[in-house]
Amino acid sequence: MTKPTIYIFGTSGFAREVADIAHANDHAVAFLTNDPAQAEDLSDFGEVLPESEVDSLSDALFAIGIGDNGVRRKIAERYAGTLQFPALIHPSASFGVGQRERVEAMPGVIVCAGVRFTNRIAVGAFSIFNLNATVGHDVIVGDYCNIAPGANLSGYVHLHPGVWVGTGAAVNQGQPGAHLEIGANTMIGSGSVVVKSCDPDSIYVGIPAKARG
Ligand SMILES: CC(C)(COP(=O)(O)OP(=O)(O)OC[C@H]1O[C@@H](n2cnc3c(N)ncnc32)[C@H](O)[C@@H]1OP(=O)(O)O)[C@@H](O)C(=O)NCCC(=O)NCCS
Repeated sequence: MTKPTIYIFGTSGFAREVADIAHANDHAVAFLTNDPAQAEDLSDFGEVLPESEVDSLSDALFAIGIGDNGVRRKIAERYAGTLQFPALIHPSASFGVGQRERVEAMPGVIVCAGVRFTNRIAVGAFSIFNLNATVGHDVIVGDYCNIAPGANLSGYVHLHPGVWVGTGAAVNQGQPGAHLEIGANTMIGSGSVVVKSCDPDSIYVGIPAKARG
């Protein structure tokens, strides 16, 4: 049976990467944007429709192909309870015991090629796990987080909502009952190594990662 089309909010590079995941799962795609005339040519992927078409698509499946955590949150909240956002998982992602089911249960989650989850990981809605990221045991990822390509989260790490972990960053482990905490909306720079908990609403860079003034 033909699988339903996935309608992807956004028309940028990450939207195309989400389209790749949908294609790898045998879905056709189309894109939604406020201004189709300004969108790049996506005819090799699918058609580009105005967002206003959503009203006529209410039984369809949707994804948000936008990396910016704040913009993704706005779109998700705009359509909360009205549109279906299934978790989208690339077939090459791999999971420890019971973990795939935990991810699939969360709306809007995007898991790109090569991601590895071990087990007992809590995954927030509308979080993104980009190419080859790894997520260790007992990690808690809040809603609207973004784990960039090749980032590594050790065990017992807690990302509060809206955290961005940059490309190739490493986060050291916490302990049972004492997770290493990264506060809400904090950004960890690419290539940084986080060795202790981080405040919310901050930018941390370097090895070891320190808050940028
Ligand atoms: C940390 C980050 C958010 C800072 O962005 P920014 O505010 O635009 O910072 P700037 O580029 O203006 O750099 C400001 C200073 O921070 C330094 N800096 C920036 N990113 C850094 C990083 N990842 N590690 C160490 N230092 C960094 C710059 O060298 C500069 O230092 P200087 O003032 O001594 O010259 C950004 O560089 C970053 O790492 N983003 C993550 C990118 C990513 O993972 N993308 C994934 C796409 S899927």
